[in-house]
Amino acid sequence: MNHFTDLKDIPVSHLRKILKDAKNRKNARKKLNILEADKGAPLKGKLLIQMFEKSSLRTRLSFYLAIKQLGGSALTLRPDELHLSKGGESIEDTAKILSNFGNAFMLRTGSDKKLKEFKKYLSIPIINGLSPSSHPTQILSDVFTVEEIKKKLISKLKITWIGDSNNVLNSLIAASIKFSFNLNIGCPKEYKPNKEILGYIKSNKNKILIHNDPKKAMIGADVIFSDKVISINDQVNTIKKLNHFKRFRIDKKLMSFAKRDCIFLHCLPRGPEVDDNVFSSNQSKVWQQALNRVHVQKSILLYCFGKLR
Ligand code: CP
Ligand code: NVA
Repeated sequence: MNHFTDLKDIPVSHLRKILKDAKNRKNARKKLNILEADKGAPLKGKLLIQMFEKSSLRTRLSFYLAIKQLGGSALTLRPDELHLSKGGESIEDTAKILSNFGNAFMLRTGSDKKLKEFKKYLSIPIINGLSPSSHPTQILSDVFTVEEIKKKLISKLKITWIGDSNNVLNSLIAASIKFSFNLNIGCPKEYKPNKEILGYIKSNKNKILIHNDPKKAMIGADVIFSDKVISINDQVNTIKKLNHFKRFRIDKKLMSFAKRDCIFLHCLPRGPEVDDNVFSSNQSKVWQQALNRVHVQKSILLYCFGKLR
């Protein structure tokens, strides 16, 4: 059994195994309908319990389809209907029940402490479906999308992030260290990664550069990543923050500093950080990116169940 809560904790050989399995499975089911199970239905009879303390469209749907396509089932709990949220039941007892009734637990939460506590008390695998500090399933899937489109290992490419220093960027930084790729981050100096993340970058001697000039971050890029400036439950002065990020809006002009065949990725939902002309252009691969979450999460589930081929 394996947990999947942070890319930092997972050896790159395991991450590579997940990506390889995802590629094989995606190729093997081209003629199947969306709810048909993969050959052998490897998770037949297994139940994935999922709970979202924050909104979700893609993560919710993609985990549902992922477990279905492996032959299992999903049950989504509403946090406001549990005793836990009202203080009437501990995480320890909730985790015991989840472990007895289900086979894996996927949690999207506003608290990293809660994620850690569930991990401590569960005897089934836990998957982080987004927390304040990371979004590991999104970024592993994005590595898959980049390599699928570029037909190259990500270590051979120049990756750029234009945007806030948030959970998605933290996972991209972890991926850059694990998969050894160049990462240029473009963000206002007021919103650079925090001390802990800067320390993690420093201790891993990776090629990660932080620029306050978005053009400098874009030069020579093969892939541009972005995300919302204001994340879910971000307790900030929205107007002030959006003003700081005005210079970082990704439009055609800014894109022209990257390579001509550069692609644009965005985990969605989107905000004013990207111009419609870029978002809807041929360079934008956001829909393929979103759909790939199903394929990669299937292999993440198999990894968690110790069933990766
Ligand atoms: N990208 C992503 O995690 O989307 P949702 O918030 O809709 O799940
Ligand atoms: N950084 C965003 C990602 C949404 C998928 C958030 O946490 O809201």
